Formats: sequence, structure tokens, C-alpha cells
Amino acid sequence: MIDYKNTLHIVYGSRTGNAKAVAMLGEGYAKSLGFNVVCADMPGFNGADLAQLENVMICVSTHGEGEPPVQAEAFYEYVTEQATAIKANYAVLGLGDSSYRYYCQTGKDLDQQLEQLGGTRMLEVGTADIDFEDASKEWVRAAVDAFSVHLKPVQAPADHFVFELDLEDGTRNAYRATLLEKRMLTGPDSSKKVLHVSLGLKNSGISYLPGDAIGVFGANSRLYVDELLAELGFDKAHGVQLGDATRLLKEVLINDYELTLLTPLVMKKYAAVVKHPELDRLLADKAASQAYADVHDVLDLVRDYKGALSIDDFLSVLRKLSQRLYSAASSQRDQEEVVDITVKVIENAGKGRIRNGVCSSFLWHRLEVGDKVPVSLEAIDKFRLPEDSTLPIIMIGAGTGIAPFRGFLQERKGTRGANWLIFGERNKSSDFLYQQELGEFQANGTLHKLSTAFSRDQQEKIYVSDVMGKESEELLRWLDRGALIYVCGSKDRLAKSVRKRLVQLFKEQGLSTDLAKARFEALKAAKRYQEEVY
Ligand SMILES: Cc1cc2nc3c(=O)[nH]c(=O)nc-3n(C[C@H](O)[C@H](O)[C@H](O)COP(=O)(O)OP(=O)(O)OC[C@H]3O[C@@H](n4cnc5c(N)ncnc54)[C@H](O)[C@@H]3O)c2cc1C
Ligand SMILES: NC(=O)c1ccc[n+]([C@@H]2O[C@H](COP(=O)([O-])OP(=O)(O)OC[C@H]3O[C@@H](n4cnc5c(N)ncnc54)[C@H](OP(=O)(O)O)[C@@H]3O)[C@@H](O)[C@H]2O)c1
Ligand SMILES: Cc1cc2nc3c(=O)[nH]c(=O)nc-3n(C[C@H](O)[C@H](O)[C@H](O)COP(=O)(O)O)c2cc1C
Repeated sequence: MIDYKNTLHIVYGSRTGNAKAVAMLGEGYAKSLGFNVVCADMPGFNGADLAQLENVMICVSTHGEGEPPVQAEAFYEYVTEQATAIKANYAVLGLGDSSYRYYCQTGKDLDQQLEQLGGTRMLEVGTADIDFEDASKEWVRAAVDAFSVHLKPVQAPADHFVFELDLEDGTRNAYRATLLEKRMLTGPDSSKKVLHVSLGLKNSGISYLPGDAIGVFGANSRLYVDELLAELGFDKAHGVQLGDATRLLKEVLINDYELTLLTPLVMKKYAAVVKHPELDRLLADKAASQAYADVHDVLDLVRDYKGALSIDDFLSVLRKLSQRLYSAASSQRDQEEVVDITVKVIENAGKGRIRNGVCSSFLWHRLEVGDKVPVSLEAIDKFRLPEDSTLPIIMIGAGTGIAPFRGFLQERKGTRGANWLIFGERNKSSDFLYQQELGEFQANGTLHKLSTAFSRDQQEKIYVSDVMGKESEELLRWLDRGALIYVCGSKDRLAKSVRKRLVQLFKEQGLSTDLAKARFEALKAAKRYQEEVY
């Protein structure tokens, strides 16, 4: 029989283990103080028990576009849609990445909802960014200390507790893949560079499914770091203590810190150090600071808003460099120990210089065939081929959004299900990614229908959504035959226009706006409409 009054329940929702590690630290710390603790993973937690709890601490990450991780979906749905009332003292920590628009949204939503259900908030909702370790440790200590006022110890406190997160270091545990091949898919006249990259996974034990993504750990450009150090007036050979090791400042900036991606949070931390009134004014406007972060980098920030700061201050402002994800563009049915990815090389112009994306540029400029690159597998369970391989599928992708569909086609080669690809890019002559291979898939009967939308080959723009309109009868026929729709590419443009067009097609069949939207939602709920958008 649980003594709810004197038990701290810790519930976590975690996809890659960060929120779990934080929850475990909370469990260890509370136990070391002598309290009774029950720690549970969200999938193993019965939502109906929530009403009985008196002290509950939640650690949850956010994935997708501000959505709960798959592991937290049922719990999230229960709390936001079914739960009626709770009586618990509660505290929520959200883990996230401030470069996403909906930062720590799941944590924030749960915090709000628990208050509305009658819970008593013990501590402000915590937010822990991509370098979540210090912020989450601080929050856990404060949260457990806040709960301890309401709990009676059931045993004597421990003599000693090591207040540390038990984490696997991503890069240290990443598999070092070998670059097998790198070639440009776009032609010399193209307005963009898109690479095909083949990575050898020999003896890695990595087993991926079509739809999964591969995380690649890149490094910043040496030239860029030199420019930044010169701007800041820092000595590149300055020793930086990281754990037990002392490393050169320049090496640390190249390998460990995010410099090309700026977030409003980094800007805020920088502003707190340099105390620049103009930057403070910018930060007071949320939309304007997000807009600045979207198109600027750390070098811009230190140039635009100069101020005195020490090396330690500067490093404390920065986020840790994180991996970038790339959809697997191959299937292990074809080559078991290889994964292909399709990478757009980011080269954005602005303020008289080119801003290269850290990872895409690392792959393009720095990696040669035979070199090793740390990679990890990111399972994407919401983007999966149907188990029944006789079902037809419609794949809609623009730009690098074609990547997973190359994997899908390799996987479905020789199966009975029909495959239709709708692909969009700018110009047919230079941007028809994998054109030859798609021709081969057509010739060997794998790709039953290929439709294209080359947006800049004519006066009027043509997008994949226009193809959907033009081919509406056939598309609806495929849907009636049980087809699944997959969409991959830009979240802001492609995904929005495809969703809108599909609802439009349903309306053209005579459904009201509400019924057409309901049909779309039903397709989504039945996992017959799946997106991998970024
Ligand atoms: C699930 C998932 C799957 C993905 N699959 C692919 C894929 O198959 N192929 C692929 O190329 N990318 C893919 N991405 C995007 C990829 O993870 C990186 O975000 C992208 O390569 C940019 O990383 P970077 O380090 O080169 O640039 P960063 O250093 O992250 O960015 C530098 C600057 O460039 C801007 N920027 C980022 N992307 C673009 C862009 N496309 N065009 C213009 N400016 C940009 C940023 O806003 C920033 O200001 C995927 C992302 C996710 C979440
Ligand atoms: N700053 C950023 O973070 C940033 C900037 C750009 C792209 N991206 C991301 O990078 C990814 C890949 O970029 P990419 O260059 O391979 O592809 P892309 O920019 O999405 O372009 C591919 C094709 O899609 C077309 N397109 C534009 N708007 C569309 C719409 N509403 N509906 C359907 N098609 C549309 C483009 O046409 P036109 O180009 O002729 O209009 C082009 O022909 C995208 O997913 C995007 O999210 C990020
Ligand atoms: C594909 C992907 C999407 C993400 N989307 C978001 C998001 O929308 N908002 C956010 O705050 N963080 C987002 N994140 C960041 C994670 O929440 C963050 O890495 C967190 O530490 C992961 O914790 P976990 O290991 O417990 O799942 C995303 C991460 C990935 C890989």
C-alpha cells in the first residue's frame, strides 16, 4: 500500500534518454535524503493513478514540432484530454532545444494543465536547453528540496550522494562511420548544392528502418573560428579546462560549441554579460529577436553588439554543438552495412560573407573518402512503411525531402504494393535528384508513377501541391484503394501546402470544410498520412 502523502512520484517521458537521466538523478537525490520515491517511465504509468498522487515531479522532453516524444504521447493525451482533477503538489521540467519554435512545449503544456486540474505548483516550470546538464541539475535539486517540505523521510539520509547525471556522451558513444562516397547530385548550373553521401557502418550493429534518420556530428570551420577569435581578441592557445583535461580554446570552439546557429536564449545570455542597451531593446521584442537569430550567427552577434567579456563568460553563453539529422536515403535490404544520406549544403549569403551550415559544410569541405565521422541512429517511428507491403503508397517530397523515398523504394523493390512519387525541385536540368535511379526503379517495376513539379522551369511556379490538384482523380482513387501518403521536406512551405491541398481535394469531392478537415485528421490518426518535415 503506497503512502501517497509521503511518496514522491517521478514520471518521465524521454526519447533519447536525457529526461530519463534527469528523472533518475531526482530519484537518487530524493532517496539519499531518506524519502520514499517511485520513479516511472510514462508508457508504464497508468494515467488514472494520477488522481491519487500527492507529490509528482515530471521530466519530459519535446520532439517533432513541439510535440511530446512518442513515449509520452499517451500520458500527455491523458493529462490534457481525459484527466478531471488532481490534488498533487507538482513540478515539471521540460527538456528541449531553443532553436525550435516550440521550445520545451510539452513540459510547458503539462505544467499549465496540471495547474488547471487543481494541482499546486511547487516550482516554476523548468526549461533545459540542448546542453541541459547544468540547468536540469539545478532544477532537480530545487524541485526535490521544495517537495521535501511536504515529505516525511522513511529512512536516515545517506552519508554521501554524488549529484551527477548518469549520461552517455553522444559523440563518445557514436559509431565512427567511414565515408565511402560523396558526390554532387545537382548540376553545375544549379542554384543549390545537394550531396549524396554514403557512410560505411561495418560492425556498427546499427540497424535502421526506412524513415529513420542518421545523426551526424560535424565540426566548425577553422577559418570561421579564427575570425571569431580575432573579433573577440581572445588568445587561440588559451587553455580551457573541460573535466580533467585542458584543451586549447580554438579546438574547443571548433569541436564543442554551436556557433552557426543562434537562438534568442543565447542572445539573452550574451546580453546579460555585455550589457548592450541596443541588444536589450531587440530582446524586448520577441518576434524581432527570433528574426535576428534566424539569419545571424555568433560572429554577427559579437560584431553587432560589441562588449567586454571574458573567455569563461563567452563559453558560458554558448550552447554545446549538437548532431544534425539526415533521413536515411537507403535501405539495409540493399546494402546491410551502408547508409546513404542526401545533404543540402547550406551557404547563406549575408553582410558580405557566406554563412556555411556547420554540418553540411563539414561533410562537403572537410570529409574525404576513407575519413571517419561520428554518427548515431535516430529512430523515427512516426514515419514508417506499412507492414502490409501490398498497400499502395504515395510519396510527396521536395528538395532533400526525396531522401527517405529512395530508401522506401529500395525496401519495396519486388513487393506487390504500388509506389507513386511526386517530387519537386527548382529546375529539371540541374535539380532532378536521383533522376537516373528513379528511371531504373520505373524500368524494374518498383516505381509505378513518377510526377514532377519543377518550380522554376516556367514563368508560373509549379509545386508538388499543384501536381496533387492536377492529378486529383487518380490521387483520390489511390486513397480509396487504401494508399498511405508520406510527405517529406520543408515544414514551413511544403508540408503546409500539401495539407491544405489535400483538404481542398476532399472539399472538391463535395465535403464541407469541417468534414474535409475531419477526413484529413482521420487519415492522420490511421497513420495513413505521415510527415517527416524539418
Ligand atoms: C528529422 C530530420 C531529418 C532531416 N533530414 C535532412 C535531409 O535528409 N537532408 C538535409 O539536407 N537536411 C535534413 N535535415 C536538416 C539537417 O538536420 C540540418 O538542419 C541541415 O543540414 C542544416 O545543418 P547545418 O549544420 O549544415 O546548418 P546549421 O549550422 O544548423 O545552420 C546554419 C544556418 O543555416 C540556416 N539553415 C538551416 N537549414 C537551411 C536550409 N536548408 N536552407 C537555408 N538555410 C538553412 C539555419 O537557420 C542557420 O541560420 C533534417 C532534419 C531533421 C530534424
Ligand atoms: N533558414 C532555414 O532554416 C531554411 C531555409 C530554407 C530551407 N530550409 C530547409 O531546408 C530543407 C530543404 O531545402 P531544399 O532546398 O532541399 O528544398 P526547398 O527549399 O523546400 O525547395 C524544394 C522545392 O520546393 C519548392 N517549394 C517552395 N515552396 C513550396 C511550397 N509551398 N509547396 C511545395 N513546394 C514548394 C521550391 O520552389 P521555389 O524555391 O522555386 O519556390 C523548390 O522547387 C527544407 O526542408 C527547409 O525546411 C531551411
Ligand atoms: C527531431 C527532433 C525534434 C525536436 N523538436 C523539438 C521541439 O520542437 N522543441 C524543443 O524544445 N526541443 C526539440 N527537440 C530537442 C529535444 O527535446 C532535446 O534534445 C531533449 O534534450 C531530448 O530529450 P530526451 O532524450 O529525453 O528525449 C527535438 C529533437 C529532435 C531530435
